[in-house]
Amino acid sequence: MPVDLAHLRVEWRDQWDAAIISTERELGRWMRSGSASTLTAVTSLHYRRPEEADHLRVVDAIPVWWGMPTGVAPTGLLPRLFFQHFTNTSILVEDDDGALAAFLIGFRSASRPDTAYVHFVGVAPDLRGRGVARDLYERFFTMMREEGCTTVEAITGPINRGSQSFHRALGFTQGGDTDLDGVLAYRDYDGRGEHRVTFNRQL
Ligand SMILES: CC(C)(COP(=O)(O)OP(=O)(O)OC[C@H]1O[C@@H](n2cnc3c(N)ncnc32)[C@H](O)[C@@H]1OP(=O)(O)O)[C@@H](O)C(=O)NCCC(=O)NCCS
Repeated sequence: MPVDLAHLRVEWRDQWDAAIISTERELGRWMRSGSASTLTAVTSLHYRRPEEADHLRVVDAIPVWWGMPTGVAPTGLLPRLFFQHFTNTSILVEDDDGALAAFLIGFRSASRPDTAYVHFVGVAPDLRGRGVARDLYERFFTMMREEGCTTVEAITGPINRGSQSFHRALGFTQGGDTDLDGVLAYRDYDGRGEHRVTFNRQL
């Protein structure tokens, strides 16, 4: 029976990558339990600064990655300006084939220079649960500490329970003043009907 070498190679590479990522994750846990706090990823993922030309592919990924129904996904969540004016503090991740794997759009507050802010983070669905977002955040934390920031903030929607669990797992404190369907959140935080959960963490 002929052997499908191409398929085997992909399967092998996936297993190898997963093993490395999970090993790195365990190593990161071990390092964090001691004095070190940096997790260096050794995977087939490639990290770089986003460029203006990346805007459309990231925007196109949002409805799919966030699981939003086609046609009703809100637009304008991530305007082009973030790919023009905040690239030096943001991170884009691609796989070996150049496909978008993850991204983090963040910046240092212009009016509160001791505060860093994560505006958007996303990981491709097939790469989730492997520590990719944790690694992105830790890279961002390191960058912002070097800039002199002592606090990092983020927000998410009350319905985004996954994001809430993720931020709590990374040591963020969840903020709000109202119970919205069992979630502590700020009502009308971003406009009428735009309720949000806030997150805050020391760096
Ligand atoms: C939220 C998201 C970025 C997490 O990415 P990820 O790479 O799967 O997260 P990680 O593997 O790095 O997980 C880090 C920690 O968060 C926890 N976590 C992540 N997603 C979780 C979820 N959906 N439910 C519960 N816990 C979760 C993990 O258990 C892990 O905890 P541990 O390290 O203590 O074991 C990803 O699910 C995603 O892109 N979601 C859609 C976009 C989104 O909602 N972005 C956030 C709002 S802007």
